[in-house]
Amino acid sequence: MENPVENAKRLAAFKAVDNHVVSGVIGIGSGSTVVYAVERLAQRVKEEGLEVICVPSSFQAKQLIIQHGLKLGDLEMHPELKVTIDGADESDQQLTLIKGGGGCLTQEKILASCAEEFIVIADYRQAFSFPLTNCGQSKILGRLYKTYRKASENLGEQWSKGIPIEVIPSAYRAVYQRIEKTLGGKSELRMSGSSKAGPVVTDNGNFILDWNFQGVMNWKEVEVTLNMIPGVVENGLFVGMARKAYFGMSDGTVMERA
Ligand code: 5RP
Repeated sequence: MENPVENAKRLAAFKAVDNHVVSGVIGIGSGSTVVYAVERLAQRVKEEGLEVICVPSSFQAKQLIIQHGLKLGDLEMHPELKVTIDGADESDQQLTLIKGGGGCLTQEKILASCAEEFIVIADYRQAFSFPLTNCGQSKILGRLYKTYRKASENLGEQWSKGIPIEVIPSAYRAVYQRIEKTLGGKSELRMSGSSKAGPVVTDNGNFILDWNFQGVMNWKEVEVTLNMIPGVVENGLFVGMARKAYFGMSDGTVMERA
């Protein structure tokens, strides 16, 4: 039997592709949910003769397009896209998004901005569990599972890793300090793998800072403030860009937000 979270991703992705893709040039986001969107696109090309050219947002997306035998394009040839379909790490009720969990936020934002429609696909997830101990004694009383929902009321309620910010490598400490002074919170340089041997390097050869903020803010202002800091390439706040979001739920339904 398929894992229910994977099923939720598939349902959301299939519904988005079925409702929003017609023949034309399509922006392909990155991450594990987008895998199902590309799968559905390939099925529709085969079964319905849909004619699409796919513009990737990352190395991963490019590989997916090639593996599924879809036509590959780029923004140089096709600067205007019919629709871009992409995942998200969290979305508030206004469809303000945190993106960049996979570090591809810069290209993803470009593709979102070039599209007539930017459509989000996401799942719910059981994010972590931890043992409840008997007041410091080792006896485990139970496990607490937190269901992490990407659809939240306010940003930061669910996604605990902060807002990803792509930075020029030599500037990461300067950017880090500037963010702390102007906006508060704390940033961490994203390290690769469990051994944390070195910083994560993006497809553009840059580093990622994950900025942990406090409270609800004016996200448009924050997005602009972050991008004004010299050394910042782009940040993972997507404000006023998404037209609609599809969230696969734990009960097998798909919740829509527009
Ligand atoms: C990559 C992204 C992804 O879209 C986001 O992290 C969601 O990924 P997933 O579908 O694997 O949960 O922004 O930069």
